[in-house]
Amino acid sequence: MKKRNYILAVLALALSVLTPSAAFAGVWRTGAEPNESRWWYDNEDGTYAANGWQWIDGNQDGTAECYYFDSQGWMAAATETPDGYVVDENGAWTENGVVQTRTERLQDPETEDGSSLVVYFSRTGTTRRAAQEIGRLTGAPLVELEAAEPYPDSYEATLSRARRELNAGARPALAGEIENWESYDTVYVGYPIWCGTAPMLVFTFLETYDFSGKTVIPFCTSGSSGIGMSQSDIEAACPEAAVLQGIRANDVQAIEPWLEQLGVYGSGA
Ligand SMILES: Cc1cc2nc3c(=O)[nH]c(=O)nc-3n(C[C@H](O)[C@H](O)[C@H](O)COP(=O)(O)O)c2cc1C
Repeated sequence: MKKRNYILAVLALALSVLTPSAAFAGVWRTGAEPNESRWWYDNEDGTYAANGWQWIDGNQDGTAECYYFDSQGWMAAATETPDGYVVDENGAWTENGVVQTRTERLQDPETEDGSSLVVYFSRTGTTRRAAQEIGRLTGAPLVELEAAEPYPDSYEATLSRARRELNAGARPALAGEIENWESYDTVYVGYPIWCGTAPMLVFTFLETYDFSGKTVIPFCTSGSSGIGMSQSDIEAACPEAAVLQGIRANDVQAIEPWLEQLGVYGSGA
């Protein structure tokens, strides 16, 4: 399929599963003319790498390098990325000329059966990075929540709508639906802190789906606030779920030890 059609096909899914596997057993591809010298990464499951960083073990030797993809899925090469990191001519993240690598883990056996899901909302991509890290570590598929009426690009306009929604206790409508909801036992719920708690859109999600018997694991990103009030608000919004202690995950390096501490991943699982 031509890349353009491919993108349209993927975008057609209102709630697409973006990075479904920790193993990322996909394949590197170059674009069609005139993009034959540009690279993109085909996850080989109907999705492709896009919107930020992804660790990829291209030659399956157990060591992954980190690559940056734009919103169209093109890999950045021999440049500085929009968030200020350097990638070499092969696209690999480098620090002082040294390619950064990490050892890939096998999928957590607990989640191999697809019983965990990462659901997140992210307006400017910070929470998406945290969600992708949880997906990478656990093998859980990702679903991005979108508002039926998207939030504006402008911070000020978003803030004023967020305040209105908070004060009114609004439940803004979601775009799309999550498929096979019943099949997930554990749901990671990610969001930016807005006005001290989770965006009202996240409460729409929590009140729309049946959480009885499920485990909920919150994670957030913020300018400076902790997860604080949003944790208790989430506990109140889904009383039939077991809500584990969440984390402020601006630093993605903090995610792995947190999951181990919760006992849902790694040696603690
Ligand atoms: C409407 C709005 C309200 C916010 N309120 C807070 C807040 O109360 N405390 C805070 O530390 N950060 C606040 N922030 C900053 C975001 O939480 C932070 O930039 C977050 O990492 C953005 O995540 P995202 O890129 O996934 O959208 C707010 C941002 C917006 C747009």
